Amino acid sequence: MTVMTILEIPHPGLREVAQPVAEITDQTRALIDDMFDTMYDARGIGLAATQVGVTQRVVVIDLQEPAEPEGEPVRDPRTFVNPELVWLSEETANYNEGCLSIPEQYAEVERPARCRVKWLDRDGVAHEEEMDGLLSTCIQHEIDHLNGVLFIDHLSRLKRDMIVKKLNKARKAA
Ligand code: NI
Repeated sequence: MTVMTILEIPHPGLREVAQPVAEITDQTRALIDDMFDTMYDARGIGLAATQVGVTQRVVVIDLQEPAEPEGEPVRDPRTFVNPELVWLSEETANYNEGCLSIPEQYAEVERPARCRVKWLDRDGVAHEEEMDGLLSTCIQHEIDHLNGVLFIDHLSRLKRDMIVKKLNKARKAA
């Protein structure tokens, strides 16, 4: 188990545009395993390779939804290599988003409510699926990371500055 260091704003690595994975190798799968370890350790639900300083188009997601309201979360690890948004709904949805690279800060972000995504899994098998709800928001958030975009970029300048200020204040207090 390897927990990698998660880059936090304003690290310039978070602004890099990641390259497509040309071939899924054992090295790619080792990166995926390390990304899951890192995400679970940080109690996140999604992580892009960009956030651990690797400029490859790899995303891991586990919404860890409880099987029943009071139940223990059931793990549902999902791997997305070279994910692509092939369709976005006109209809939008608002979610209170957070990000492991902007710790403890949350804001409502408006995004297309549904999307259709194409990707390869860890074995290189191609998938295409229409997503909605939290999964739709999460995959759009993570694909943004691969393009060097953060959720605060979707906010007004005023709200963005407020989040950065609050984060810097929390860092000083720590
Ligand atoms: Ni994020």
